[in-house]
Amino acid sequence: MISQALREARFYEDVAEKSVSEEERPAFHLSARAGWMNDPNGFCFYKGKYHMFYQYYPYAPKWGPMHWGHAVSTDLLHWEYMPAVLAPDQVYDRDGCFSGNAVELPDGRLMLLYTGVRLEGVRKESNSEVQVQCIAVGDGENFEKYEGNPVMDETVLPEGASRFDFRDPKVWRCEDGTYRCLLGNRPSDGSGQLLLFGSEDGFHWKFRSVFASNRNRFGKMWECPDFFELDGKHVILTSPQDMLPHGFEYHNGNGTLCLIGEYDADTESFREEWNQSVDYGIDFYAPQTILTPDGRRVMIGWMQNWDTCELRTPHGKWQGQMSLPRELSIRNGRLYQAPLKELEKLRANKAEYCGVVLEGEQTFPGIHGRKVDMEIRIRPQDPENVYKKFSIHFAMNDDYHITISYRPHENVLKIDRKFSGSRRAIIHQRRCKVVGSENGELSLRLVLDRYSAEAFVNDGIQTMTATYYTPLEADGIMFAADGKVCMDVVKYDLI
Ligand code: FRU
Repeated sequence: MISQALREARFYEDVAEKSVSEEERPAFHLSARAGWMNDPNGFCFYKGKYHMFYQYYPYAPKWGPMHWGHAVSTDLLHWEYMPAVLAPDQVYDRDGCFSGNAVELPDGRLMLLYTGVRLEGVRKESNSEVQVQCIAVGDGENFEKYEGNPVMDETVLPEGASRFDFRDPKVWRCEDGTYRCLLGNRPSDGSGQLLLFGSEDGFHWKFRSVFASNRNRFGKMWECPDFFELDGKHVILTSPQDMLPHGFEYHNGNGTLCLIGEYDADTESFREEWNQSVDYGIDFYAPQTILTPDGRRVMIGWMQNWDTCELRTPHGKWQGQMSLPRELSIRNGRLYQAPLKELEKLRANKAEYCGVVLEGEQTFPGIHGRKVDMEIRIRPQDPENVYKKFSIHFAMNDDYHITISYRPHENVLKIDRKFSGSRRAIIHQRRCKVVGSENGELSLRLVLDRYSAEAFVNDGIQTMTATYYTPLEADGIMFAADGKVCMDVVKYDLI
């Protein structure tokens, strides 16, 4: 049975989608079908297709009572919209169906585990959102909310755990057929923790352990946890709220955190060995991962940040897009990311320049465009006299441009979008201390879709991501050097 609320959402999105032209959307990044999108949800491979669900408010390009939108894909780059799957229509989720995950049941049905939200008492009073975990089961297109919902509420919480910050389940099925679920929560110290729950059948859940504790180190509440094994290590991805900067590693506000370490089966908890940001740019949050049928760990994040949502004008047709699918690996104890290898199939119109010496500003025939995959390698022309600064301007015309610049003496890479038409006093640039560069050498892979840039630094040891919404005529690409830079560049259009 489809509720009235879901029927209305499906009707609305079907009509609203038609008012958005192809050019008004990214070409190979998933964007909101209508209205607003935030976190990826229930990212999975099910019955021969990739499914991406997402936090969704179809009726306006701003956050509102959360629904789950839905799209499917066979290559993770071209998405087909499907009807929305969840609407806030029950007592326990009447104020929102928040983030969650998906797992296939042994009988072949797909189970969604999500957070139901209900405002208690006076609306909008702080700490009044009661958060519980709920299930919907279906065939990949239509889902029925489970009559036993909620399946986890305050009664399963350990002592001191908040019932108001208890959200974003990540669920998986173990080899022995039982289920585990990781949830973001706030203990009595006011920071964040991840709680592990277990279930025999996926429907009845018990608390097992405090899986990882923030202890007020990386922001406060930890949202949207993910957990997986990769290259002989265990990895937690989570998105802390209210972060403070630690040097260049983390920045103020909502950020991303990758913890690499070991899972301790005796205590059912995680032993941290290493921490780092997942992305060092402006727009990346709440990623989820899947294992592809051929064994790749692929991550997609919300290509946006809560504190910078005002970059777009409020009358836009849609708000919110997902990042590129990124293949993850662990090398020398660090997280590496690479654009999904299938992206190379979209490459056309190669333009290549090797060993060019840059001094001042320069453009190159064949190098321009808003949907571009470009590999750049630079080194000082004279190792004894290292250049001061190298930069790439893109999405450029007389009015607009975005810049990525590198200063070898400080070893700092910066992405800057202040000339992208924003009229708001929000963050427009971010810097990172580059890992893996010496003596002015740097390699960058820059992937541009119509409204975003994702830079993979030194073979993906760091990434920097930013969105911008300038007119597509701003499609110039220019290189500049203060000093003498020797550069190799290969550029493809992505079609
Ligand atoms: C993260 C988040 C989640 C929550 C959802 C609500 O971006 O705040 O914790 O489930 O968004 O839309």
